[in-house]
Amino acid sequence: MTLDLARPRATPWLDPAGYWAGLGRATAELDPPFGVLSLEALAWNAHSLLDRAAGTSIRVVTKSIRVRAVIDAVLALPGFSGVLAYTLPEALWLAEEVPDVVVGYPTTHRAAIRTLAGSPLLAGRVALMVDAVEQLDLIDAVVPPAGRESIRICIELDASWSAPLLGHFGAWRSPVGTPAAARALAEAVQARPGFALVGLMAYESQIAGLVDDAPGRAVFSALVRRAKLASIPELAERRALAVAAVREIAELEFVNGGGTGSIESTAAEAAVTEIAAGRGLVGPHLFDHYRSFLPAPAVGFALDVVRKPREDIAVALGGGWIASGVTGADRSPITAWPPGLRLTPREGAGEVQTPFTGPGARGLGIGDRVFLRHSKAGELSEHLSELAVVSGGRVAARVPTYRGEGRAFL
Ligand SMILES: Cc1ncc(COP(=O)(O)O)c(C=O)c1O
Repeated sequence: MTLDLARPRATPWLDPAGYWAGLGRATAELDPPFGVLSLEALAWNAHSLLDRAAGTSIRVVTKSIRVRAVIDAVLALPGFSGVLAYTLPEALWLAEEVPDVVVGYPTTHRAAIRTLAGSPLLAGRVALMVDAVEQLDLIDAVVPPAGRESIRICIELDASWSAPLLGHFGAWRSPVGTPAAARALAEAVQARPGFALVGLMAYESQIAGLVDDAPGRAVFSALVRRAKLASIPELAERRALAVAAVREIAELEFVNGGGTGSIESTAAEAAVTEIAAGRGLVGPHLFDHYRSFLPAPAVGFALDVVRKPREDIAVALGGGWIASGVTGADRSPITAWPPGLRLTPREGAGEVQTPFTGPGARGLGIGDRVFLRHSKAGELSEHLSELAVVSGGRVAARVPTYRGEGRAFL
C-alpha cells in the first residue's frame, strides 16, 4: 500500500490532548504494545522539511525511520530523492527498489561488498562512504578490481568544529578535515582502478543534531547556540573550498550535507546539492527542543495499564525503550497521553513494567491505555514489527518495520 503524503490542512497535534485521544480512539481495538503513526503528521513534517529546504533536494536518512513503506511514501514526494542508508546490507536490500542509495558510514562487511561488486544493478545504485585509503584497500582485498564492477565512492569530509576554549563540537567521523586532505583522498580514489568517485558528504552534527533550547538547561542551550553561530560560517567556507578542490579531480554527482536540525544553514551553501534528513519526518521528543523548528509528533507507542499498586499509581506493561547516545533523562520516552502522567524517579521507563504517577494516574484503571513518545527517531522500529498508520481518524494501514520484515542491521 502506498501512503499518500498530501499536505494536510489541519494541524491537530497543536492540541496534544485532542490529538493523542484521537489516535487512541482510532487504535482502540489494537493490543499493546504497538506503534502508531499519524499519516497527516508525517505528511505535515515532510512538507515542512521541503519548505525549509527551499528547493534543495532532500536525501532520506533511513536510520531515522526503519520502515520501508514510510521511506517509499516520502520518496514519492517531489523534492525528496535517494536515501542515506546506515549499513551496506541494508543498502543492498533497499537498492532492489531504490535507484540511488548512499551508505552514510564506512563498511567492512565482506559478504555485502562481494554482493555489491558482483552485481551491475547494485553497483550502479549504491555508493560507499570512504575517508581513508585503507577502506579502499579492504574492498580490493575482498574483490580485486579486475574481477568486479566499478564501486561508487563518496568521500566524507569532517564537518566538526573546534571551539577556541571548549574544544571539539560534533561527531568524531572522518579524519579528512581540510580541502587539501579531501583533494588528496579524491586523487587516491581516482588513481585506483575499480572505483568511481561520485560524491562528497560532510555532516555537521554540532549544528544539525544538538538541541539548542533544552528545558532546564539554559546555559548549555545558549552555549550550543553560540557554537552553532560560529561553526556555520567556518564550515561553509571550508566545505566550499573542499568541494572546489575535489571537483578539480572528479565530476561529483552530489554534495551532501546537514540534517533535519541544520536545513536552513546547509541549504544556504551553494556548494551543497542535497541535504540528508530523517528525524524531522518522525518528530521524536528530543526534537521538541530546537529554537528554529518544531516537527509534529508523528510517531508514538501505546501500553496498557495492567496493575494499580496504589490508587495514585498506574503500572503499564512495557515501556523501557531508552534511546542511544549519552545516557541521561532525555533518552527516556515521555508520556504523551493521558495528560498529567509522570515517570517515577526510582524506576523511570521500566524493563517490562512502568509505573506512572502524577494527577493523571488516579483516573487510570486496569486495561486503560497510555501513549508515549520515543526520544529518538528510528529506534522505536527496532522494538516493534509494525506501525499502525492512522489517517482520517481510523487505522488506514499496518506497515512493517525493518524488524517486521526480519531485518536487523544495527
Ligand atoms: C551522515 C548523516 N547525515 C545526516 C544525518 C541527519 O539525520 P536526521 O535528519 O535524521 O537527524 C545523520 C544523522 O545522524 C547522519 O549520520
